Amino acid sequence: MRPGEWPGRGCGTYDDVLVRSPTVSPAAFRMRRVAAQGLARLPSVSPVAFRRIALVAAICYALLVVTGGAVRLTGSGLGCLDWPTCSKASVTPAVSFHPLVEFSNRMVSVAVTVLSIATFLAALTPRIRRRDIVWLSAGLVGGIIGQIVIGGIVVLTKLNPYWVSLHFVLTLAVLADGIVLYQRSGRESGAKELLVGRDMLWLSRLLLTTISVLVLAGTMVTGSGPHAGGVGAIRVPIAFRDMAELHADIALFLIGMTLATLFALHQAKAPTLVQRRARTALEILFLQGTLGYTQYFLHDNALVVEFHLAGATAAWSAVVVFYLALHRRPEMEPRPQPVTVAPREADRRRRRVAVNAPA
Ligand code: HEM
Repeated sequence: MRPGEWPGRGCGTYDDVLVRSPTVSPAAFRMRRVAAQGLARLPSVSPVAFRRIALVAAICYALLVVTGGAVRLTGSGLGCLDWPTCSKASVTPAVSFHPLVEFSNRMVSVAVTVLSIATFLAALTPRIRRRDIVWLSAGLVGGIIGQIVIGGIVVLTKLNPYWVSLHFVLTLAVLADGIVLYQRSGRESGAKELLVGRDMLWLSRLLLTTISVLVLAGTMVTGSGPHAGGVGAIRVPIAFRDMAELHADIALFLIGMTLATLFALHQAKAPTLVQRRARTALEILFLQGTLGYTQYFLHDNALVVEFHLAGATAAWSAVVVFYLALHRRPEMEPRPQPVTVAPREADRRRRRVAVNAPA
């Protein structure tokens, strides 16, 4: 590894940034130089520490679904009347139900924002920097920006169910991004090996697609039901009962398909890890289905709906984790700490090499 080199493919080195090619304008060169110098000053993060940050970020994202749902289901949206403090008089909420629920959700949102930015910055540090890791980390930051924008539209449109649905779906998409990031950050970026037959791969892709459709249908059930915002909020123009039945049918189809996938994996003698993950997904989906019927027959009891939300997050994560197990990538080799050369020093060295080079 050359001095100042960033590990991973296609990322270049600090030195590359500092030697201006004729195609780079002086202004662009200066900007790249400032960026390179800033990055060179970031503290070094070990791959193990990076994985931990990525894991905590993903867990906080999952928590956000549950705390966000709690705010909606308990009608605690106005539990804190000020921002960022809870009230004009106090940063923290009074010991009372609605302010506590709203404030907890704010705290998780802050944690998610800080962790997403920290993950992205850590991904740029020399020992971590790799194209796929940087993009997946950028996905976390992009997700936060998207959440803020869509969250604002949700408030402006007075909880329009289609925007609420997009808000929810985006959270699960970013959660999936965090899970993939966690998995990838422990593996090398090289070629992956498929551990099952291509028919199993396609069956698993169908599982992922079906759970995505199911989640989308679930948000439409919410949009047509009693928990779709306050009085006067726009509703999905489909009867709650019809939408819930459609959602339950898709859920039953998904559970049946997961059972069939597990059976097929068993018959094909797929690796134990793949079978175990498929079994976990099936168990969570089964419990989630039971919760779904319980909540339906209890006339959409808010507490059960909250558990259903947590279950949806767990089921989605389990299917994503199962899908990731179908491919194997080599475990990450421990990397030596790169010898980083101060940018200006690197520049001088280059010039010295150029001057001393034989004509
Ligand atoms: C087994 C997999 C299932 C998954 C992954 C799932 C997922 C979801 C999701 C993501 C929502 C939207 C939550 C929100 O927007 O806040 C939802 C809502 C709902 N689901 Fe399911 N669901 C499943 C099964 C079922 C079943 C079998 C039923 C039975 C009828 C059911 C009944 C409902 C109802 C009534 C709602 C509306 C809750 C509300 O008013 O907020 N679900 N589901």
